[in-house]
Amino acid sequence: MLNGKRILLIISGGIAAYKAIELIRLLKKSGAHVRCILTHGGAQFITPLTVAAISEDHVYTDLFSLKDESEMGHIRLSREADLVLVAPASANIVAQMAHGFAEDLASTTLLATNKPVMICPAMNPMMWEHTATQNNINTLKKRGIVIIPPDEGDMACGEYGAGRLPDPAHIHDEVIAFFKTNKPLHGYRAIVTSGPTHEAIDPVRYIGNRSSGKQGHAIAQSLADHGANVTLITGPVSLPDPQGIKTVHVQTALEMLEATQSALPADIAIFAAAVADWRIDNAPTHKIKKNNEKKAPSLLLIENPDLLKTISNHKNRPSLVIGFAAETQDLIENAKEKLTKKGCDWILANNVATDKVFGNDQNHIYLIDQNTVQEWPIMDKKAVADALSEAIVEKMKTHKKEK
Ligand code: CTP
Repeated sequence: MLNGKRILLIISGGIAAYKAIELIRLLKKSGAHVRCILTHGGAQFITPLTVAAISEDHVYTDLFSLKDESEMGHIRLSREADLVLVAPASANIVAQMAHGFAEDLASTTLLATNKPVMICPAMNPMMWEHTATQNNINTLKKRGIVIIPPDEGDMACGEYGAGRLPDPAHIHDEVIAFFKTNKPLHGYRAIVTSGPTHEAIDPVRYIGNRSSGKQGHAIAQSLADHGANVTLITGPVSLPDPQGIKTVHVQTALEMLEATQSALPADIAIFAAAVADWRIDNAPTHKIKKNNEKKAPSLLLIENPDLLKTISNHKNRPSLVIGFAAETQDLIENAKEKLTKKGCDWILANNVATDKVFGNDQNHIYLIDQNTVQEWPIMDKKAVADALSEAIVEKMKTHKKEK
């Protein structure tokens, strides 16, 4: 249920800190990778050793620890997570968050993060009901921080009221619900083209290329995993249709164009297909036979429409149009030229000079827009797809702000 999700759990001070151990166990059992920060207050109630043993990872405690900072600085800690979860969240950490204090590793990480944050406040009922705490909670709510309210019951301090940390099982369910409904591309429609096209020479022969469709299919899957409503338009490939994605099968460039236009309107369009540049003019409807003079037939080629260019200039143009540039030489220069010529927003330039790329699992990508060139490390195609989805998520955030 939480397969591959990276959760940064911040355990702050309070008697309920012991419940964090069971929470870590449940999250890990559901497939999450849990990395923990234990505050100074938290460490008064449970030990770093216990947290490390259960989380099976290093526990981060100190902003000024040379070892911690060199291994994994607070900025990386805050970025390499899909969710930052604070449980229990003491009155103090709630106040630090509301007012932007950066006094220790936990508060600094919370100030530096660009990831969703969920907090589970737990404190004495009078502290919880105090106007100061309630004002802080309202400030955090307005910022989009998810608050799991405390339970009511007998408190360790002998008082009764709201302030108990909910059961770890309940927090675990809230985390699952969060990932189901809070996907960053939820509400966006995306079109992805993938694979080669086959252009008929006659009913039994065709012109094609070696594109496997692996990259396009991985992008469609990753966008769907990020919550987008994806239509995948694919040429002939030997890959299964990705689960839960509307998949349209085509053979030729003309069919791919028609399917792409029919899938509009969309917010995002990614052209990963290796579309054949030419097709046979007036391909015969019967099989071409060898003739007696042993003369090979001449094939007259005409140019196919450019899907990327057509959609970039379409009246229903998606707000983000992305193309690929497969090049064997002058990668950046050629890719920039393609960006301008085709009128798209980004080009993912891909060096296909090595035999590691076409039909294979590795890609060396440069993300190019009008102003910048960003080199990505060599990654497998799934990692490229995820990096692209992340870049799209960031871009869509700025689109939203501009609106
Ligand atoms: N593309 C397309 N329709 C075509 C040809 C290409 O949509 N008829 C898209 C590809 O999906 C890719 C981008 O355009 O996103 C660039 O494809 P590429 O093959 O690198 O470039 P071409 O335009 O075909 O130019 P050339 O082959 O001359 O490099």
